[in-house]
Amino acid sequence: MKSDSAAIKKRYDRIAPYFEGLEAVMEGLFFKNWRKKLWAKVDGHHILEVGVGTGKNFDYYPADARITAIDFSQEMLKQATHKKARKNISVELNLMDAQSYPLPTTVLIPLSVLLFFVRADACERFKRAIPCL
Ligand SMILES: C[S@@+](CC[C@H](N)C(=O)[O-])C[C@H]1O[C@@H](n2cnc3c(N)ncnc32)[C@H](O)[C@@H]1O
Repeated sequence: MKSDSAAIKKRYDRIAPYFEGLEAVMEGLFFKNWRKKLWAKVDGHHILEVGVGTGKNFDYYPADARITAIDFSQEMLKQATHKKARKNISVELNLMDAQSYPLPTTVLIPLSVLLFFVRADACERFKRAIPCL
């Protein structure tokens, strides 16, 4: 892992317990609506969410799809794991860096509102694999 990736991961590890609180105002004002609109466009039987964070998209997952969600921050994933159990969400959570995700997989939706602070080259990998992006 390159050093800036490591720094980003460390930052997310540190803020993980406070992440939802920090974003609460923006979530209420904007993100919630964006999530609804974005997920309404999602179609596919196997969806990959890149950078799942604390699982703020869980409520919007299509009921009939198989969802795999990855994140490279252990602490963010820990929050998502708690939320998964609490809300009884059907999602496979994996600790993984998007840069090393084995592409291509089935249907990929790098939805994740959005890839803020995800390294540009990780996004480029997905863009190359998914012509519609
Ligand atoms: C701004 S948060 C968004 C979390 C969530 N998608 C949401 O909508 O609230 C970005 C997330 O992407 C993760 N992330 C950043 N770069 C990543 C990478 N290269 N591979 C996997 N996860 C990454 C971070 O750890 C963080 O949890």
